[in-house]
Amino acid sequence: MKPISLTRFLIQEQHAGHINADLRLLIEVVARACKTISNAVGKGALGSVLGEAGTPESASVNIQGEAQKKLDVLSNEILLEANEWGGHLAGLASEEMEHSHPIPNAYPKGNYLLLFDPLDGSSNIDVNISVGTIFSVLRCPDGITEPGDEHFLQPGTAQVCAGYTTYGPSTMLVLTVGRGTHAFTLDREQGSFMLTTRDLQIPVETKEFAINMSNQRHWEAPMQRYIADLLAGKDGPRGKDFNMRWVASMVADVHRILTRGGIFIYPLDAKMRDKGGKLRLMYEANPMSFLVEQAGGAASTGRGRMLDVVPTGLHQRVPVFIGSKNEVNAALRYHAEFDAGK
Ligand code: AHG
Ligand code: MN
Ligand code: MN
Repeated sequence: MKPISLTRFLIQEQHAGHINADLRLLIEVVARACKTISNAVGKGALGSVLGEAGTPESASVNIQGEAQKKLDVLSNEILLEANEWGGHLAGLASEEMEHSHPIPNAYPKGNYLLLFDPLDGSSNIDVNISVGTIFSVLRCPDGITEPGDEHFLQPGTAQVCAGYTTYGPSTMLVLTVGRGTHAFTLDREQGSFMLTTRDLQIPVETKEFAINMSNQRHWEAPMQRYIADLLAGKDGPRGKDFNMRWVASMVADVHRILTRGGIFIYPLDAKMRDKGGKLRLMYEANPMSFLVEQAGGAASTGRGRMLDVVPTGLHQRVPVFIGSKNEVNAALRYHAEFDAGK
């Protein structure tokens, strides 16, 4: 059967009463912006988009204290510009901006809030490895026309839509509006995202894990024990051999898990204890957790369901455990036993 386009998929969702016209427009606009980012990423060195933002004398640093790449800044501008004037949003928030951005009064306003990590996996930009964009959509609280940061602080269960694009060998968009997780592949000749897998299902069991092993000595005791047992393989308590993968782009690692299963972990470690973790709750962990749950997987902080976390800050960080259900639960058991003093 001929694949259907994202546009047709969204119109069908609207006609079935699963989304309204504003959410359809929002997703179309985000997808269009991601096509522009995909083109910029794809040009690589020919597009003068590689390397650090700012000047050698004064490097550009975001609110997280991280050096910004040119593509971080460019992708943020593309998403901002595309989403400001359509009338579907009340406000936006981004990894690259300290505070949220209410839609200016010059434009019509809608009822949704959009959060994004414009370019995920920045350390891979200059070495031609997959990067991506992650986004999350919330409702603007009733009666609020000029949302501030506090109006974005809603738990992941309040998300009405989440998705990511991955700019890899092919550009893909993976999307949920709370009715399964669906994957679209960009047809570069037509310029359209085409539905290539409806209802992704993450295998419940896995033999593959993704973690930055170089942080091992900084992890908490239950993490040390859990990974040691995976590494012990067939002869250890888990009784099977595990394979390891780490792209260092969350989008690419999670995309692999949505495709063939696995567990992705960015645990708390001693270096980042004060910050709460490495990955950001609002525009990394929550949208990915929504997508993974909708595909039959599990998502946790190691101590509780990710989507239940009540946020306290726009750039709040959390430990992340997501992927195949039984493996996430196995990792949680190590933490529960440790917390119970066993
Ligand atoms: P970002 O590029 O948006 O700052 O996110 C990078 C994140 C995530 O994509 C990835 O999983 C992780 O950082 C990689 O961390 P390490 O550098 O520790 O491997
Ligand atoms: Mn990121
Ligand atoms: Mn980023």
